[in-house]
Amino acid sequence: MTILIVDDNEQNIYQLQVLLGGNGYRVITATNGDEALTTARQAPPDLVVSDILMPVMDGFALCREWKKDARLRTIPFVFYTATYTDERDREFALGLGAERFLVKPEEPEAFVRMLREVLRQVECPPPAPPPVQVDVQPEEEGGYLKQYNAALIRKLEAKMQQLERANGELARDIAERQRMEEERQRLQAQLVQAQKLESIGTLASGVAHEINNPIMGVMNYAQLILDKVGPDNPVAEYATEIGKATDRIATIVKNLLSFARIDKQAHSPARLYDIVEGTLSLIGVVLRHDQIDLVVAVPEDLPRISCRSQQIQQVIMNLLTNARDALNERYPKHDENKRVVVTAREIENSECGAWNTEGDAPRSWVRLTVEDHGAGIPEAVRGRIFDPFFTTKPRDKGTGLGLSISHGIVKEHGGGLWVESEVSQWTRFHMDLPLV
Ligand SMILES: Nc1ncnc2c1ncn2[C@@H]1O[C@H](COP(=O)(O)OP(=O)(O)OP(=O)(O)O)[C@@H](O)[C@H]1O
Ligand SMILES: [Mg+2]
Repeated sequence: MTILIVDDNEQNIYQLQVLLGGNGYRVITATNGDEALTTARQAPPDLVVSDILMPVMDGFALCREWKKDARLRTIPFVFYTATYTDERDREFALGLGAERFLVKPEEPEAFVRMLREVLRQVECPPPAPPPVQVDVQPEEEGGYLKQYNAALIRKLEAKMQQLERANGELARDIAERQRMEEERQRLQAQLVQAQKLESIGTLASGVAHEINNPIMGVMNYAQLILDKVGPDNPVAEYATEIGKATDRIATIVKNLLSFARIDKQAHSPARLYDIVEGTLSLIGVVLRHDQIDLVVAVPEDLPRISCRSQQIQQVIMNLLTNARDALNERYPKHDENKRVVVTAREIENSECGAWNTEGDAPRSWVRLTVEDHGAGIPEAVRGRIFDPFFTTKPRDKGTGLGLSISHGIVKEHGGGLWVESEVSQWTRFHMDLPLV
């Protein structure tokens, strides 16, 4: 027994081929109605199973031609369609003379059973079913065309809806992928940053130790020369310059060593309020001197944090110094906006900055924020401010270590230091620390 499958979808053809082949039928195929007619006229099959929507010639037109052809009309014609829309399609198809109208997905066994039944009925036809009128008279042609068009339009509309649904799903899928990719890149960037700081920290502390002793030697010898030649000798000027240069080296070395010392002290519970007070007693005078208004709102009754107070103080000091520099740059003299605001509050886990990669582990945090209305940090610079030695300040002013050291300290405390800024508007540094 030979079955002709007509479908423009390769996968559908393949599935039917496997199913029918597996049930002992010989299968031949065509990808549209026109091809099916040519194939069938050369070697008529015992049964044809046809899809409806196909290019060149669709299933309805094929069925009509099939049932007009004297050699083919007795061969049973089965429609097999995925986009069933309406009872009128079935009526129209059967009206064309088709033996069956099956809707996908049909159970494979049921499908084969039905085909068998169709074939059996052809071999011994039931008594006197009125022969289908297939030779349409011209006046009926208009009616046929109308029905044909309506059925095709219904099919096309259903197909369009299917495509639109698929399109919507695809768009959602793409958006989700994009979101995940962005998330991945963000985490990757954080990881790189953390690893970079860690390895630089190790390297820097090693180098710093090596440099510390010789630099003290150079300083001492410069001082000895100065003492020996007396202030009027031109050599004294050189010795002074050597002294200044080595001073700067000594500062850098001292800062680098902070990296190494990060985990040398013990943690103890402390009040953020006290730490801020301690810091302000050190830097308050400097801020006042620069006519910077200082607003502090740190509640005394915040839960305690477990920390090395000295180091947290160092972080706050760095943040305040940076704010001071930014304000002095924007307002060289007095201005009503020349203000630093220090606030602190408890935050939820979900509010934590992007640095919190542990996701939603249940944990409470306290956030200290230092805000200034200075120049802001341009987008292009923002990604580098935590890099060691990155500075936008003149050579004699910044070493570019303040933020990288602070970042290391906060990270070692299990927290995160991060920034938000609007250029020419404001900058906010947030230090998120876990509560005990
Ligand atoms: N509040 C701020 N407003 C604007 N820019 C800032 C602010 N804080 C930091 N920056 C930028 O980040 C850079 C790096 O800061 P960081 O504290 O690491 O180094 P620095 O202040 O330049 O030098 P150092 O702190 O070692 O003396 C600064 O040079 C500056 O460009
Ligand atoms: Mg700084």
